[in-house]
Amino acid sequence: MHDSHDPAIPAIHDAAFQDCPDRRGTGSEKWDRWPGRDVLPLWVADMDFRAPAPVLDAIRQRIDHGVFGYTQQPPTFAPALAGHLERMHGWQIDPEFITSTPGVVTGLAITARLLAAADDEILTFTPVYPPFLTLPGMAGRRAVRVPLAPSTHAYVIDWDALFTAVTPRSKIFWLCHPHNPTGTVFGRDELLQLADFAQRHGLTVVSDEIWSDLLLDDGVRHIPFASLDHPAARQAITLVAPSKTWNLAGLGCAAAVVSDPVLRRGWRAGGGGLVPMINPLGYAAAEAAWLHGDDWRRRLIVVLRHHRSLVLAAVSAIPGLVAFSPQATYLVWIDCRGTGVADPQAACEAAGVGPSDGRDFGTPGFIRLNTACPTARLEEALRRLARAFSQGS
Ligand SMILES: Cc1ncc(COP(=O)(O)O)c(C=O)c1O
Repeated sequence: MHDSHDPAIPAIHDAAFQDCPDRRGTGSEKWDRWPGRDVLPLWVADMDFRAPAPVLDAIRQRIDHGVFGYTQQPPTFAPALAGHLERMHGWQIDPEFITSTPGVVTGLAITARLLAAADDEILTFTPVYPPFLTLPGMAGRRAVRVPLAPSTHAYVIDWDALFTAVTPRSKIFWLCHPHNPTGTVFGRDELLQLADFAQRHGLTVVSDEIWSDLLLDDGVRHIPFASLDHPAARQAITLVAPSKTWNLAGLGCAAAVVSDPVLRRGWRAGGGGLVPMINPLGYAAAEAAWLHGDDWRRRLIVVLRHHRSLVLAAVSAIPGLVAFSPQATYLVWIDCRGTGVADPQAACEAAGVGPSDGRDFGTPGFIRLNTACPTARLEEALRRLARAFSQGS
């Protein structure tokens, strides 16, 4: 299948991101949330776009083989990811450091058990992707929320809040980098300061870098936490996946980069026997994405930038709403507290648009919009958003 873009067509009209299959009735978590109701789903973080042709071809080829027995990490998996990390972020690692895992959330859950004991604390910046708040409790550990500080245009680290939050029971810092939902990309100075802090308090940094391939601003670079020249970086665990970038979440394939050999050996046991092997289609898709997905990824970013500007313009025209321009991700975090609407999520759903509810991220009064859908759908959703917050709604 041909998938490269005709350069004569402006990138934002790229058919790969405008002609999308109907996802209703496919078991889609996103689309089946409001059955029978006209609510445009702009919530859970997957995209409405078909995966790139080279990925679909790789899956088909694996299907044609026809045998789907127990599958170990193929020898080509780690080198494909290591090559991708070097090309994307200039991060050189030994492929030996890479261990596949069925999901980044699974990886986080493993680290909670591997690096902390019962009742120990896991620190994280809030607002944050909901499993960061719920997983520690499921593992019998405690989540400690360290609020980020909203400055005029972005969320930044509140160092005083961090210094106040840490206790002798704190064992892990879960970093979401780039940050979901705010879209902040942490810079080298902040990461180094965080590394100093982690070292001082004996914390292991687990860095969820699932969004690191979707940087929207020229001149903003993703610096993997573990790539820092710092002792805390050498102890860190990095979690990555092709799932956000190439829309493969349902195939369940991610990876942990663990340079410490002792932690690496403990990884499988850390899953407590609950973590299944990865399916062969997930491996095929991941490798193809890392090796052959970059043209599609670049075209996607052109569309996502356009969508970000549409959302920011629409939000700025709605009195009382404040949007934070994300440096990365296809998510826009919106403060609705100035509208006087008591339940922004309910108001949006009543107006026919379904964002994520800020309450799930630890911050009521906010919503998160997912822009990864065809442009016309996003524009209609933005009209509904305006209706949700218009007077008398
Ligand atoms: C920060 C972050 N981590 C992890 C995930 C999910 O990862 P996985 O599907 O590999 O468990 C998401 C999905 O939105 C996410 O935003």
